[in-house]
Amino acid sequence: MATKNILNVLNRKPSEGTPIWLMRQAGRYLPEYREIRSKTESFLDLCYNPKLASEVTLQPLKRFNLDAAIIFADILLISEALGVSVKFLEGEGPVLDNGFLDNNLYDLKFKDDKINNVYETILNVKNSLPKNIALIGFAGSPWTVASYMIEGKSSKDFSNAKKWLKTQDKLSKLIDVLTESTIIYLENQIKAGAEIIQLFDSWSGLLNNNEFKKWVIDPTKAIVDQLKKNYPNIPIIGFPRGACVEDLSIYINKTGINCVSIDYNINIKDMGKLQRVIPVQGNLHPNILIEGGDNLRKSCFKILETLKNGPHIFNLGHGILPQTPIKNVENLVDMVKNF
Ligand code: CP3
Repeated sequence: MATKNILNVLNRKPSEGTPIWLMRQAGRYLPEYREIRSKTESFLDLCYNPKLASEVTLQPLKRFNLDAAIIFADILLISEALGVSVKFLEGEGPVLDNGFLDNNLYDLKFKDDKINNVYETILNVKNSLPKNIALIGFAGSPWTVASYMIEGKSSKDFSNAKKWLKTQDKLSKLIDVLTESTIIYLENQIKAGAEIIQLFDSWSGLLNNNEFKKWVIDPTKAIVDQLKKNYPNIPIIGFPRGACVEDLSIYINKTGINCVSIDYNINIKDMGKLQRVIPVQGNLHPNILIEGGDNLRKSCFKILETLKNGPHIFNLGHGILPQTPIKNVENLVDMVKNF
């Protein structure tokens, strides 16, 4: 049996209790993160600095009894590797240089230049990680990264990206380039030491069933198929945020992922049904973690109770928010570990 509990769950082997990690576990709710972040010019400088990015990756593990580290980076680094630059503006989120849409869509080419620093971060972290903690590498899924590249910024409805759904050829081309680049990027992460991969598809909920199949399921399957050829033992977690239960079932059956991450809109009973097919993670609302107290306790135990007889990794239904009290995270991890 692997000594890493989270790998046991992903491999459907017996595990000692429920493993836990939290999306965005390294981030602004931690004073030690804000301290390091204040020393760098920009968020991207931090992502591209292997020494500091490693330190930040390890910060939450020094405080909490977590089962995995997730490498500190961002899903939009791949856009930069394709030559479409990204800036993170204070209070505004990402801004992407989407002039490429009119001109050189066909010139987009993955160049591992600055992105090589991510692999170095992985090597650093791997060397200092305790033996029982697993290292998660990640990428955004093609549809979600394409949405940001087309829109040029964060948006509630990504209306420009949705317009592209009608220009099938252009969108196909962009999704294909992203799929190929993501495969290279993730293979390099695995070579550097990532033991688990998570694919973030934060905006899959914008799509109807047919669109979901074409722009989420097909590219995800292509990525999983290719990674499994060379790295059959690296588990892949898929997070198609906003997908309905029906779409989640198809996603699970068609893509070949090893575990599905569930957002907070899915009913816990439905999550239980999905767990009969595949290991599950997620679901706790990040606002409940902010609130803490009784509601956190009840919600946490409801998830643990419902899922206790199958493979389950405890996580949130989306990333930790900056205003989350550290004490609540401590309590949550204790509750899960003592269950
Ligand atoms: O701890 C971890 O989870 C690892 C690091 C990580 C970050 N972003 C760091 C980050 C991971 C896995 C991500 C994924 C990511 N990035 C997603 C998918 C998950 C999701 O949230 O839906 C998306 C959509 C992005 C793109 C992104 N990055 C946006 C829209 C923003 C701005 C909004 C915000 O939360 O600030 C970011 C910035 C970002 N990524 C921060 C961090 C710690 C905050 C930046 C800062 O510290 O100044």
